[in-house]
Amino acid sequence: MIKLENVTKTFAGDIHAVSDLSLEIGEGEFVAFVGPSGCGKTTALRMIAGLETVTSGRITVANRDVTQADPGERDIAMVFQNYALYPHMTVRNNLAFGMKINRFARSEIAQRVDEVAKLIGLEEYLDRRPSQLSGGQRQRVAMGRALIRNPNAFLMDEPLSNLDAKLRVHMRVEVRRLQQEVGTTTVYVTHDQVEAMTMGDRIAVMRGGVLQQYGRPDDIYDRPANAFVAGFMGAPPMNLFRAGLTQDGTTPVLVVGEQTMKFDGRLSTDFNIANGAGKQVIVGLRPEDIVVDAAAGTLKDLRVSLVESLGAERIAHVGFGDAIKFDRTETGSNDIPDDMMLQIRLSRSTPVPELGSNVAIQFDPANLHLFDVESGKSLRRD
Ligand SMILES: Nc1ncnc2c1ncn2[C@@H]1O[C@H](COP(=O)(O)OP(=O)(O)OP(=O)(O)O)[C@@H](O)[C@H]1O
Ligand SMILES: [Mg+2]
Repeated sequence: MIKLENVTKTFAGDIHAVSDLSLEIGEGEFVAFVGPSGCGKTTALRMIAGLETVTSGRITVANRDVTQADPGERDIAMVFQNYALYPHMTVRNNLAFGMKINRFARSEIAQRVDEVAKLIGLEEYLDRRPSQLSGGQRQRVAMGRALIRNPNAFLMDEPLSNLDAKLRVHMRVEVRRLQQEVGTTTVYVTHDQVEAMTMGDRIAVMRGGVLQQYGRPDDIYDRPANAFVAGFMGAPPMNLFRAGLTQDGTTPVLVVGEQTMKFDGRLSTDFNIANGAGKQVIVGLRPEDIVVDAAAGTLKDLRVSLVESLGAERIAHVGFGDAIKFDRTETGSNDIPDDMMLQIRLSRSTPVPELGSNVAIQFDPANLHLFDVESGKSLRRD
């Protein structure tokens, strides 16, 4: 439905907002663009909408090259963060405005407004002005204005970021339900990885104008393409730390500080670490994949420095105590946190480890991630 081929945007002053972006969005698909501030999400969206010129590359919508087309010719509706409603107009007139300008018949407008009002659940509010609505209701009107045109695609730029946390969670579901009901292809920009994970059929993770990974939420979570994606997707984030790679016979061994972790053949089957002995790697472990086990563990002498209670679960922060001297002198990648703390997700039934005590941890080697220390790329075999 929407196809970007090597799309690049360079602003004056050699600012590379989007570099060589290629991806395809299927008919009816909901794709979330996610990444930190300034990574080029809005610029990418505005190029799809035609609000920003493309420096190089090609954009096709429904098999039609629209790279040079005006926004009006693309039949794409945009929903912004700040609603952009007309304050002096009623909800009804806000919804009808676009159709009125385009001189649709009065009866057709009335019918369409009723349909859309029902869809967004605001039939009772048609005669109110925006100032008489809640934030969530205003956002629904903004959605309604996009819906009424029955466009080829919706583009949404952080549409929920003005809402408070609870309403945002609610509207997440609403937006997704609406989109599924009308089946319109949607590109949704957010810097919130939870929003991207919960809403997207697929997620495009961006960084510094460059697409890092494009895939289904579970794939991105379970098989991050690089250390950046690994650390960005998930809260608390994946633990990332440096380890040395050696071999005991044919068995790969990871060295963390003065401790060693031996593995069965699995590590060499899962990861491309042949002839890796003597190399450094980045190890990744998700907080929920670590088990605290005071008796026997893979890594020992980790000091409990903080236990946060989140109600349904707890997050334990454990650091490598004196027993493990972590060599941080050659921190090549800025994806490796400076302060070596592991975050561990504990279920409520797990006993709370005592502050200041030392614990050992275990994990299933199947849940281990390994990344190249220089490029940050995943060492997992396909
Ligand atoms: N009109 C412009 N002129 C010059 N540089 C721009 C312009 N618009 C954006 N940029 C730059 O391009 C880069 C990408 O900006 P963009 O707005 O696409 O980021 P974003 O991912 O949407 O960020 P945020 O999450 O903060 O909204 C940034 O470095 C930004 O400063
Ligand atoms: Mg933006």
